Amino acid sequence: MTLTDRVADICRAHSGTEGALLPILHAVQAEYGHVPPLALPTVAKALGVTVAEVQGVVSFYHDFRAAPPGRHVLKICRAEACQAMGGAALAEAAKARLGVDWHGTSAQGVTLEPVFCLGLCAAAPAAMLNGVLAARVDATRLGEMLAEAGA
Ligand code: FES
Repeated sequence: MTLTDRVADICRAHSGTEGALLPILHAVQAEYGHVPPLALPTVAKALGVTVAEVQGVVSFYHDFRAAPPGRHVLKICRAEACQAMGGAALAEAAKARLGVDWHGTSAQGVTLEPVFCLGLCAAAPAAMLNGVLAARVDATRLGEMLAEAGA
């Protein structure tokens, strides 16, 4: 099945749903690991909106990736509680260690993404590596996490 056919199926599965754009984009990303640019015209057509509108939503929401992630995905919480507890320093440590900015992928295959609350506010700052949550993360712990993951 081509990407276009599969995306059309996903759109059909959400037809009639109020506010279907976000669920459709989440489903596309769940299937492909990102929202491929080639999917946008199909989604736009299904919903009767412009490609630019769909592109705007993909760009606006931090959850969506326009390109495939690396072998590892490191998310660092950028929300208030974590920022108050050293989240900014953790983010800078991650960028320095990986040599990338937000949404970049390091030479070791780690994609760095911001996230806005991981539900670990009481144990800030929080991060998530490959779907595994980590609390009270500092630069040292971050290095250990990456090493344990082979990144
Ligand atoms: S604010 Fe960071 S986990 Fe909630």
